[in-house]
Amino acid sequence: MKVSVIGAGNVGATCADVLAYKEIANEIVLLDIREGFAEGKALDIWQKAPIDLYDSRTVGATNDYSKTAHSDVVVITSGLPRKPGMTRDDLISTNAGIVKSVTENVMKYSPNAIIVVVSNPLDVMTYCAHKTSGKSRNVVIGMAGILDTARYRAFLAEEINCSPKDIQALLMGGHGDTMVPLPRYTTVGGIPVTELVSKDKLDAIVNRTINGGGELVKLMGTSAWYAPGSAAAQMVEAILRDQRKIVPVCIKLEGEYGINDCYLGVPVVLGKNGVEKVIEVKLNDEEKQLLQTSRVKVKEVMDVMDKLV
Ligand code: NAI
Ligand code: 2OP
Repeated sequence: MKVSVIGAGNVGATCADVLAYKEIANEIVLLDIREGFAEGKALDIWQKAPIDLYDSRTVGATNDYSKTAHSDVVVITSGLPRKPGMTRDDLISTNAGIVKSVTENVMKYSPNAIIVVVSNPLDVMTYCAHKTSGKSRNVVIGMAGILDTARYRAFLAEEINCSPKDIQALLMGGHGDTMVPLPRYTTVGGIPVTELVSKDKLDAIVNRTINGGGELVKLMGTSAWYAPGSAAAQMVEAILRDQRKIVPVCIKLEGEYGINDCYLGVPVVLGKNGVEKVIEVKLNDEEKQLLQTSRVKVKEVMDVMDKLV
């Protein structure tokens, strides 16, 4: 199986590293516009193979899409990351142009690839890639929900002092201030989280999750990469191994949750055809309202993008 990762920066290189280390694909191409940068990262990952004992081959390319030809999955991470004081939406004008041209190149060389978008603002960049590709919605999808859910699960594990593996949770909506955490659908070893964590503490954890990306930007001067890179690799793994994993993924909604023509994170079954099924969980009135707020926010930025590209 062949996977190409476009953008060999922090997130792209981490994703390629996880894909190689876990032998999720046997051929991994890293591509960047910076001369020699992707080749260097790919070589470094390949030289780790004898230490970590994997045989996935990593190859780098400087803007040469012929090297990515016939990829089964392409992960798009190219674009600017946030700097302190910026929102994800501030990135739109630069990143829309990048994601559009990258998608055109991907389509030329790997028309059958499933595309996983990571670049921000995530929901709108998924729209950009989907619109540019002309493919069906189940094969052009975005990564954010797995990351946001992982942050929430990590904070809960810290609070409860338990293994993060035992925490099952779901977050929906846009990747930003309007994401929709669902404590009602959060369990710890099968126990509802509300039995183990007080409402005040749970509210604080939800709030920290919503601002989780910003917390890291403040600490590091740029946005996160370890968890985002692993989250994107997990989506690739679910697709290539046909795991039928139930995870939140950004996809164009076509009537689900009463929403049309908007790209939002929702739980799906992820397998060899990309999104195999969108799952509609029952939401209460408050949760429905939060999802609508998210829809309005994402739609505003989609409209901005329509004027740009
Ligand atoms: P980075 O700056 O480390 O890497 C971006 C790379 O893209 C650079 O190496 C740059 O040369 C390359 N690039 C720019 N234009 C390109 C083009 N036309 N073709 C090929 N490569 C190109 O940034 P980082 O931290 O890796 O973040 C990448 C993107 O992912 C950002 O937009 C960031 O906001 C987003 N992100 C999204 C997350 C999510 O949950 N969806 C989480 C973390 C980051
Ligand atoms: C994150 O949530 C910036 O979207 C990126 O870390």
